[in-house]
Amino acid sequence: MSTQTDPRASRLRSRHWFGKRDRWGLGHRAWLRAEGFSEMVFEGKPVIGICNSWSELNNCNAHLRQVAEAVKRGVWAAGGFPLEFPTISLGEMLMKPTTMLFRNLMAMDVEECIRAHPLDAVVLLCGCDKTTPAQLMGAASADIPAIMVPGGPMLSGQWRGTELGSGTDARRFWEEVRAGRMTEEDWCEIESCISRSSGHCTVMGTASTMACIAEALGMTLPGAADIPAPDSRRLALAETSGARAVEMALEDLRPSMVMTAKALDNAIRADMAIGGSTNAIVHLVAIAGRLGIPLPLEKFDELSRTTPVIANLKPSGKFLMEDFCYAGGLPAVLKEISPLLHLDAPTVTGKSLGENIARAGCYNREVIKTLADPLQPQGGTVVLRGNLAPLGAVIKQSAASAHLLKHQGRAVVFENGEDMAARIDDPNLDVDENSVLVLKNTGPKGAPGMPEWGHLPIPKKLLQKGVKDMVRISDARISGTSFGTIVVHVAPEAAVGGPLAVVKDGDMIELDVEARRLELIVPEPELKSRLAAWKPAAPYYTRGYGKLFLDHILQADEGCDFDFLRGRTESSEIMATKFRNPGM
Ligand code: FES
Repeated sequence: MSTQTDPRASRLRSRHWFGKRDRWGLGHRAWLRAEGFSEMVFEGKPVIGICNSWSELNNCNAHLRQVAEAVKRGVWAAGGFPLEFPTISLGEMLMKPTTMLFRNLMAMDVEECIRAHPLDAVVLLCGCDKTTPAQLMGAASADIPAIMVPGGPMLSGQWRGTELGSGTDARRFWEEVRAGRMTEEDWCEIESCISRSSGHCTVMGTASTMACIAEALGMTLPGAADIPAPDSRRLALAETSGARAVEMALEDLRPSMVMTAKALDNAIRADMAIGGSTNAIVHLVAIAGRLGIPLPLEKFDELSRTTPVIANLKPSGKFLMEDFCYAGGLPAVLKEISPLLHLDAPTVTGKSLGENIARAGCYNREVIKTLADPLQPQGGTVVLRGNLAPLGAVIKQSAASAHLLKHQGRAVVFENGEDMAARIDDPNLDVDENSVLVLKNTGPKGAPGMPEWGHLPIPKKLLQKGVKDMVRISDARISGTSFGTIVVHVAPEAAVGGPLAVVKDGDMIELDVEARRLELIVPEPELKSRLAAWKPAAPYYTRGYGKLFLDHILQADEGCDFDFLRGRTESSEIMATKFRNPGM
């Protein structure tokens, strides 16, 4: 049966645009035909939007036009009608001050583009860190059938016989340069070896983590997260996803039916098992908020305690995403941790997660370990609380130094990013390897935008003494490629008067990861009097999107979404039927 004669086609959303025999129907059809389509190619067929975050300003997503062509082939082959459209794209390396300032803007762009147009389903093309959560958030709010195709990781970096992981090894070697142990010539050579192809970062950074999370949520076809970007199987998967989107349109299989509370549990378990990025916590809380599903930070901690890290990938382990793919990738991880998962969770395939991974296999036990012999006994990220972080903070214990997981040290305080940049390498800075570096005013409102500044550099004079790690604490985020004993997402942030705002040089701070504690060892009356004397700084933005951001951004424990975007609002059906084009 063709899609046009399928009885389910009469209920398609796009029929409100193209199915009418009145003057509006003529207008919608005639104006689309201006693009050169004859009536026969779209009449009565499911319209599949291809939501493309392609941009030459975002190298990680620069190959997505080619991926979109593969999606179109699949849509045509399955009897659908593909229409590709652009949205804002967020590239980590070039966009300032931080892509996180714009994640919600992209989510709004995605949501409104989907809702406003005659689409029956949408294929989401993402890649770089924030593009994946922004599309999942937008699709969750628009709630028409959606399937995601991540762009895939780059090929592994190669330098003089050594594999280089994006970000992680760049940071490691930069510290060698600063310590005087690596030459400028070698450093320049690395620049041309570390990013070898299209695709996103090669380690289990935020982009890889969010692609895995999308797959564990059930929003992609199995295997979508880890096939390298230049691998032909990436395009074949895009083609199959396009075909599947046509079926999903007819089945009316929506994101709210896939991204359920069980799917969120599965995504958190997967995140812990792969040693995923700390950023995943903020993004998952934001996605859950769009779906109206409560997701307190305690849930991450609860699942972290009972989910071992089994993916041996940088920055927590040794290998890169290309190795991960060849070892069996995320399906092999999910199969291994299947006793911990809700296997009955529905997915975009129309089958359950359990059915999707039934035939998954592991082909390299060095890369993907077992539950019985894990890389680490507990999950990668954990949530801390205490008088320094009453609403929570996050640490990636899998990429931290074991000897610093329980530590007490004297605070060395930087008031903001500029202060830190100006003084961190000052030979007179009063710091030693037991100090705790504290960075304030880098949270959602503080920086603003919560940039990835939490990976404070080790002061040069300590680097030269061979110090490789110290406890660092901030209200910022860190890149998923970061490593070290770094506490981030401290909430409430300093800029809204959280206790971080009143930490002074010389205060003692205690970190106890096992007990999940982060404490400022200052008598309570003293802490109260400091907080009472605290005054907020003038807002950084007074107009435009920046002002909207400052007026509505939520704290890290609530996912940094805008307060007015959470929960479910007007349905897409109402939007489709309520408004007619007044121009006709
Ligand atoms: Fe895009 Fe790392 S810069 S994923």
